[in-house]
Amino acid sequence: MNSKVKTGSELEVQNSEISEAERICMSRRNFLLTGTTAIVMSSMPGIAGAVKLAAKDYPAVKIASLKSLKTDQPLDFSYPPNNPVSSFFLVKLGEQAGGGIGHQKDIVAFSNMCSHMGGPLNGSYKAAHKAIGPCPLHLTTFDLTRHGMVISGHATEALPQAKLEIIRGNIYATGVTGLIYGQHDNLA
Ligand code: FES
Repeated sequence: MNSKVKTGSELEVQNSEISEAERICMSRRNFLLTGTTAIVMSSMPGIAGAVKLAAKDYPAVKIASLKSLKTDQPLDFSYPPNNPVSSFFLVKLGEQAGGGIGHQKDIVAFSNMCSHMGGPLNGSYKAAHKAIGPCPLHLTTFDLTRHGMVISGHATEALPQAKLEIIRGNIYATGVTGLIYGQHDNLA
């Protein structure tokens, strides 16, 4: 058993070492908390603009005029251009959504192909829940107000979301966030 009594200067050195270790630990904890906050914020409508999600730009394609769009009536369109298999839908949700455009920030567009194994989501929009699904293959449902986040089911990735812009009263698709099922660059 070590019965040596520490001198005053030895105790000072020990205390300063503990303080340094605590400081490093606190810094790491703060970093992790800050990182987590950023990820959560990016998926929440209202503060989604605080964190930009990475989107890849493609040539702009006109989808519809702003005036012609009706709440809760999805409209299918092909995107990106020259991709014969990719289908997206545009919908005005009637409530604010992550990535939404328009006065209410409620107009969004997503891939019609499920992110799990490409199941067709066409026609499965649920107005009451602002969601799409369940996918006919393995029942995944996606939240359209939160960047296509998975609500339930087998998929583990959000639904690819189209980047939208309003130009002179018309809605254009100008890019995609995420990878369309079965493709490596979203172009075919
Ligand atoms: S393909 Fe949609 S849940 Fe599996």
